[in-house]
Amino acid sequence: MAVSIEVRVAEVHEYDRVSEIMLTAYGTLPGFRLEGAYAEELADVAGRSASTLQLVAVDGGTGAILGAVTYLDDAASPYAQPMREDEAALRMLGVDPASQGRGVGAALVQACIDRARQDGRARLVLHTTEWMTAGRRLYERLGFRRSPERDSTVEDRIHLLGYVLEVGP
Ligand SMILES: CC(C)(COP(=O)(O)OP(=O)(O)OC[C@H]1O[C@@H](n2cnc3c(N)ncnc32)[C@H](O)[C@@H]1OP(=O)(O)O)[C@@H](O)C(=O)NCCC(=O)NCCS
Repeated sequence: MAVSIEVRVAEVHEYDRVSEIMLTAYGTLPGFRLEGAYAEELADVAGRSASTLQLVAVDGGTGAILGAVTYLDDAASPYAQPMREDEAALRMLGVDPASQGRGVGAALVQACIDRARQDGRARLVLHTTEWMTAGRRLYERLGFRRSPERDSTVEDRIHLLGYVLEVGP
C-alpha cells in the first residue's frame, strides 16, 4: 500500500528519535563499524541544529518519523564538508531500516533539492562512500554526478566521495 510521506523541519522534542534513527540506519550498513567521533556526530542532532537544518520524513497517516537528513546552506558551518559559497549541501541521510525501500530517502533528498533551489543556490553537494551503495544509487537516480575534486578523508579511515547536482536556473 502506498504511504504518504511528508517532509518538514524537525521539532526539538523529535531530536532524540532522529538520533536513534541515524544510529540504527548507519549501524546496519554492511561492513562498517559505527564508532568514535563519527557515531557521536551522527547522534548529536541538537548540536548540529544550531548551524544546520534538520529535516524529517513523517508518515502522513501515523505521524511517525521515518527518516531524516541534515541540510546546510553555510559553507562556514563546522558541519560543512568541502563546499563553495554558492552551494548548499546535504549530510547524514538515514531512514529507519523498517521503512527503507518505500521512497522515504528519495523524498528527503528531493526536499533538499527543492530547498537549495528556493535558497538560490547553484548546486547541491554531498559526500558518501564507496560502500553506501543504496545512497549512491539513490543520488545517481536523482541526477547527482561524481565530483572527485571534492573527495576527502575523515578520521584517516573513511574516504568520502563528492557528488554534485546543478540546481540553479
Ligand atoms: C540510503 C537510504 C537513506 C535510502 O533510503 P530509502 O528510504 O530506502 O530510499 P528509497 O526508498 O528512496 O530508495 C531506495 C530503494 O527503494 C526503491 N523504492 C523507492 N520508492 C519505492 C517504492 N515506493 N516502493 C518500492 N521501492 C521503492 C528505490 O527504487 C530504491 O531501490 P534501488 O536503490 O534498488 O533502485 C537508506 O538505505 C539508509 O538509511 N542507509 C543507511 C545510511 C546511509 O547509507 N545513508 C546515506 C549516506 S550518504
